[in-house]
Amino acid sequence: MDQKLSVLIIEDSQNDAELNVLYLRKAGYIVNFIRVETDEEMKEALATNTWDIILSDYSMPKFDVLSALAIYQASELDIPFIVVSGAIGETKAVEMIKAGAHDYVLKDNMARFTSVVKHELSEAHLRQKLAAANVALKKSEERYRTMISASPDGIFITDLKGIITEVSNVGLAIYGTDTSKDLVGFHFSRFVPQDEKNRLDEIFEGTMMDGLAQNIEIKFIKMDQTLLATETSATMLHDAFGRPVSYMIIIRDITQRKNLEMQLIHSDRMAGLGEMASGIAHEINQPLNTISMAMDNILMEIASDENIQKDYLKKKSDKIFNNITRIRNIIDHIRVFSWGSDDFMTSAFSINGSIMNALSMISEQFKHHAIDLRLNLNDQIPQVNGNTYKFEQVILNLLANARDALLEKEEKQPDRFDKSIEIKTFDDDQRIFVEVNDNGIGIKEGNLNQVMMPFFTTKDPGKGTGLGLSVSYSIIKEMNGTIEFSSERSVGTQTRIILQKQTVKAP
Ligand SMILES: Nc1ncnc2c1ncn2[C@@H]1O[C@H](COP(=O)(O)OP(=O)(O)OP(=O)(O)O)[C@@H](O)[C@H]1O
Ligand SMILES: [Mg+2]
Repeated sequence: MDQKLSVLIIEDSQNDAELNVLYLRKAGYIVNFIRVETDEEMKEALATNTWDIILSDYSMPKFDVLSALAIYQASELDIPFIVVSGAIGETKAVEMIKAGAHDYVLKDNMARFTSVVKHELSEAHLRQKLAAANVALKKSEERYRTMISASPDGIFITDLKGIITEVSNVGLAIYGTDTSKDLVGFHFSRFVPQDEKNRLDEIFEGTMMDGLAQNIEIKFIKMDQTLLATETSATMLHDAFGRPVSYMIIIRDITQRKNLEMQLIHSDRMAGLGEMASGIAHEINQPLNTISMAMDNILMEIASDENIQKDYLKKKSDKIFNNITRIRNIIDHIRVFSWGSDDFMTSAFSINGSIMNALSMISEQFKHHAIDLRLNLNDQIPQVNGNTYKFEQVILNLLANARDALLEKEEKQPDRFDKSIEIKTFDDDQRIFVEVNDNGIGIKEGNLNQVMMPFFTTKDPGKGTGLGLSVSYSIIKEMNGTIEFSSERSVGTQTRIILQKQTVKAP
């Protein structure tokens, strides 16, 4: 075997000590030992050397085994402590074991001695291995925890059924809470809107099949019921035997990125606005040319000898009038920009009040066209900062668009239908919504991205300038809001203004 063994022997008799060593050497150990017989000697031996095993006599003139055991325990060493003694009673033996001795051997039964030593050495070896494994486990757990808490993404651990068992602090913050109680114990799908459930299944199934799913865009419902845009990845965690035990779901909040993307799309759309000035010149030039031409025609007609026809004059005058109207409309729309900022003081105003003002200008027209106007105004919505006249113009533009859409549908679609426009105001925690809904002709899908561009119009020349929405958009943008459309051809259009709630100064 030739195993080296450092032995500390607590024994007053050199002979007995050497006898122990002899047994050990016989068993194949290469022994090196020190014999001590007082507590100071033992302490010094423990402090200055490392030992594989301690053998101790039961009682000695200047020392005893219980005191030795106390010193051994205090040293927190985990090496076998075996008592080798003369006959002792049952009680004393139990006492020794309780005090921390691993075993005891009677001096007159040394046949057991080496097997006890062997057994205790291997037990101690096992204990040390286990302790080392525990330290490694603790270290890896710490590393894992540091990883989870240091990650800028929210990390959720769920069991194989999808029940959340652990959430990182960032995960809590993303969800909008500071306690894991709001999440742990719940099924993960609870935080996913109905229309995203398929995508969640995709994540779980993909992870189960391939071990991971990466960067899947999915929306979650936050604690305050608002939606959160995320990019989510998941990986499977395994136990020591390679069996899957849990999912680690990594959630990145991409709301800001999405907003930025939206803004980019908007600013793309609105880039045209900067070119508006040259556009305006062009737009006004066209009707002016048409007017000049019509005037030319009339003058030539007058200069000729023939009698001028009434019909001819009427046709030309209509054309001139239409084109003048077109120019006036363009000017009406852009007046908002040409006025100085002092003409448009910003203050807190009531959205509903502004809507009512706009309506007073257009409601007679609606009656005339048999348009049913439905008001659904929430009088609890707070005031907003901005200019009430500009906002009125936005509402007027939207109502005019809705009216035109209804009349166009009436013209194109033979079936009779009840023309109706609904104006709705409502709010949630952070935002105020103003909707204008019509059951008119709708916007062609391909046109949805273009409707806010300056001069984009589907209306006949003289009827639409294509400025209404681009002007409305810049007014709403000034108020830190947005305009969104949803529309279905021949069914109707919803135009939605979304404003952020602000702390407003009293008017
Ligand atoms: N409620 C709506 N229903 C159907 N189409 C709409 C609606 N609102 C806007 N549109 C479409 O968007 C286009 C652009 O609207 P915008 O208000 O900017 O200009 P316009 O209405 O054509 O001209 P103007 O506002 O000068 O009368 C319209 O020509 C129309 O095709
Ligand atoms: Mg319009």
